[in-house]
Amino acid sequence: MKGILLYSSKYGTSERYAKMFSEQTGLPLADAVKADAAQLAAADCVIMFCGIYAGTLFQPQ
Ligand SMILES: Cc1cc2nc3c(=O)[nH]c(=O)nc-3n(C[C@H](O)[C@H](O)[C@H](O)COP(=O)(O)O)c2cc1C
Repeated sequence: MKGILLYSSKYGTSERYAKMFSEQTGLPLADAVKADAAQLAAADCVIMFCGIYAGTLFQPQ
């Protein structure tokens, strides 16, 4: 299985957990906004770490 970890983080908590998970699993890690489209297309499993604000996933402006 080819997986990838993405994170979107306002204050850094999701990024910190995503980095720890990446280190423990060996899965590649990318900022959700900067992720490479080809890398995403090649993955058959995407795991997202994201802060939630007022019921909405955090999206950087
Ligand atoms: C103003 C504010 C609103 C939040 N709203 C939600 C929410 O609606 N649901 C939830 O589960 N967590 C909510 N949280 C908790 C954050 O999602 C949580 O602290 C998360 O770990 C932050 O991730 P980040 O540091 O990567 O941005 C809220 C936190 C703040 C400060």
